[in-house]
Amino acid sequence: MKIAFFNAKPYDIEFFNSANASFGFEINYFDAHLTLKTCPLAEGHQAVCTFVNDPISKEIIDALCQLRVGLIALRSAGYNHVDLKAAHQKIPVVRVPRYSPFSVAEHAVGMMLCLNRKLHRAYARTRENNFSIEGLLGFDMHGKTAGVIGCGQIGAAVVQILKGFGMNVLGYDIDKSQVEQAGCTFADLPSLYKTSNILTLHCPLTSGTRHMIDAKTLSLIKEGAMLINTGRGGLIDTTALITALKSKKLSAAGLDVYEGESPYFYEDLSSSFIPDDTLSRLQTFPNVLITSHQAFFTKEALQNIAETTLENIRAYAEKKPLINQI
Ligand SMILES: NC(=O)c1ccc[n+]([C@@H]2O[C@H](COP(=O)([O-])OP(=O)(O)OC[C@H]3O[C@@H](n4cnc5c(N)ncnc54)[C@H](O)[C@@H]3O)[C@@H](O)[C@H]2O)c1
Repeated sequence: MKIAFFNAKPYDIEFFNSANASFGFEINYFDAHLTLKTCPLAEGHQAVCTFVNDPISKEIIDALCQLRVGLIALRSAGYNHVDLKAAHQKIPVVRVPRYSPFSVAEHAVGMMLCLNRKLHRAYARTRENNFSIEGLLGFDMHGKTAGVIGCGQIGAAVVQILKGFGMNVLGYDIDKSQVEQAGCTFADLPSLYKTSNILTLHCPLTSGTRHMIDAKTLSLIKEGAMLINTGRGGLIDTTALITALKSKKLSAAGLDVYEGESPYFYEDLSSSFIPDDTLSRLQTFPNVLITSHQAFFTKEALQNIAETTLENIRAYAEKKPLINQI
């Protein structure tokens, strides 16, 4: 079994090589993203392995099929970047549905704490011998209201952490039973927007959730609320977000994901510039914290991602049912 592993970073290689000791596949690691141009690298391989920042279009799927690649193994939970319609009945696509909901939940809460107590600014100040605390005033999270949108695995883990802080936690999910299972109080979206001091997004990106946070929903949000997004960038209309930050409707935004992230996130562009003016504008706000789609990035998550991806590939090689097929 030969696997063409695209967009390989040193940490991917470390964790996949370690997990592969008990699988024994031949993994060829490529720096390149999977694009139409780089597809030929997959020739002679039975599977390709890709991450969230490699959009998989119909053209790429057709090219992979022509090269007789039999499996697309995503090393991610999210799959909104794959043209599943095009893949249907041509090539199976597998993913890692659960690797560590705690990794993402803890990062989301970390962003809340950082923005609330302005830790990012405090760090920069004290490094410069500026020990003033002027402008760093936060609020007690205890007793405040958090609104969790999407109460699946990650949302439920967030609910548990925030309840531990003594917050009043409201949840919204298209599947009401998920809110009950997560252990918080169901609220419809307008009430959740109206009452939450902190809003956090944990639903998938679909045609129904794209730009669910737009000018209209932002107008419903409580004055001075904080917005956290570790879901997918496309959940937020970024232009509307910038307007809400400029008008101080929102007091802060924590973004682990951004709708135009794929050319930038995971790359070191420190010697370059950012042609995307929207991203550049976001970077100018002292009350916006951007992380580079790293919420998943813990040792435990990487171990689970590597093991499940290789198990998915083994099931394909042994013609067993693909339990993680999308
Ligand atoms: N930033 C990261 O590193 C990272 C890592 C993993 C996952 N994610 C994102 O987090 C999302 C959630 O992951 P999960 O493991 O909790 O998934 P999950 O499937 O366990 O939970 C998603 C929940 O969202 C609900 N939902 C679907 N459509 C909705 C809608 N329109 N409104 C409200 N709720 C809706 C579902 O019913 C489900 O309960 C993923 O889809 C992915 O986009 C981000």
